[in-house]
Amino acid sequence: MAVLDIVALALITIHFGVPIAYYHYLKKKWFSRPWNIKIDPNYKPKVTIIIPTYNEAEFIEKKLDNIYEQDYPRDKVEVILVDSASTDGTPQLINRWKHRHPELKLRLLEEPVRRGMNPALNYALKHVLQDIEIVIFTDADAFWEKDTLKQVVKYFADPEVGAVTTCIAPLETKKNHLEEYYRSYYNILRVAESKAYSTPVHNGALIAYRKKLLDRIGGIPTYTGNNDSTPASLIAFMGYRAIQIDDTIVKEPAKRKEFWRKVRRAQHLILHFLKTKDYAKKLNIYKPNIKFETIWRIQFYLHIINPHLLCIALALLLYSTILGSGISLGLLALGAILLLVPVFRTWILTQIQLIIAIFRNILTREIVWSK
Ligand code: GDD
Ligand code: MN
Repeated sequence: MAVLDIVALALITIHFGVPIAYYHYLKKKWFSRPWNIKIDPNYKPKVTIIIPTYNEAEFIEKKLDNIYEQDYPRDKVEVILVDSASTDGTPQLINRWKHRHPELKLRLLEEPVRRGMNPALNYALKHVLQDIEIVIFTDADAFWEKDTLKQVVKYFADPEVGAVTTCIAPLETKKNHLEEYYRSYYNILRVAESKAYSTPVHNGALIAYRKKLLDRIGGIPTYTGNNDSTPASLIAFMGYRAIQIDDTIVKEPAKRKEFWRKVRRAQHLILHFLKTKDYAKKLNIYKPNIKFETIWRIQFYLHIINPHLLCIALALLLYSTILGSGISLGLLALGAILLLVPVFRTWILTQIQLIIAIFRNILTREIVWSK
């Protein structure tokens, strides 16, 4: 066996071995444990729900109905919509809806030009009332269950909890497939990390923050386009819990350009992993915590380093095949056949998206993205 083949095989073993080992460790050790958090279902503080909109005419009325139907005291909820110069009549639809539902506190802020989601959210944050304890960001096309707000808020009864996100699933999922999504690789990983301490990756479809902590980090940083993983991880670096819960699910419609949407999300995550820890230190909020540090490092490795191992291994195998190695050819053929297995195919696709994202960040950071 040639040296090239051995090196390639070693890289492949590491590439697949680390995430598989990490997943099984978390699943076995943490996933089924009870929360080490003081949860109180009767805790009902005042919340502000902020919805950023850019050309959301298709979803916005359904979204507002969805918020309206939440099982939570209405006098404790305020909704702030922040629109950035939509061209499809979104603000008009919001105003009409507001007119029909005067009993829900709702404000529409309009920005004259589009600067991106995070600048819009920071603008909205300035309008949140003083006595608000929890701020929730939610996408216009993310649909909650009736009890989602209640489920999310009950974790904040514990003063250690600073950020809460939920599991997500596609809107089109049938009831019997939902269970699969609850139990999918990423949801298991993130809930288990949350039970161990905190997860560094959150879902912007719904992300709830303790308002005073958002203030302490000076709002949402704008070096990356996400409103979820970055503030939540800063809060975790501060010494608070930033968790993904598993007793409610938020659903999102499938998108036409799903591949590129994932590349953009990956771009944000890569910038997040490259910069957030230093940013926490710069803000002077960084408190060393061995558990979060370990989780952070593993996820840093999985997002930034691990995809490259696969690329290098592939290049070595191709080169070695050209040099006449039968083993390399065999491994390449095996890889091609394995692409027929959905889990393997999805994994490879994610690695490709991460690699594209790493290089695409050089061209554009996708702070404002096409819709
Ligand atoms: N006000 C405002 N201004 N809102 C915007 C802008 C903008 O420039 N751009 C996007 N939005 C709104 C959308 O209308 C939507 O409600 C929300 O921000 C998310 O944007 P989508 O275009 O639906 O993107 P997504 O579904 O992929 O969003 C996810 O990715 C982001 C990171 O890449 C979300 O989960 C985000 O919360 C997440 O941070
Ligand atoms: Mn969306």
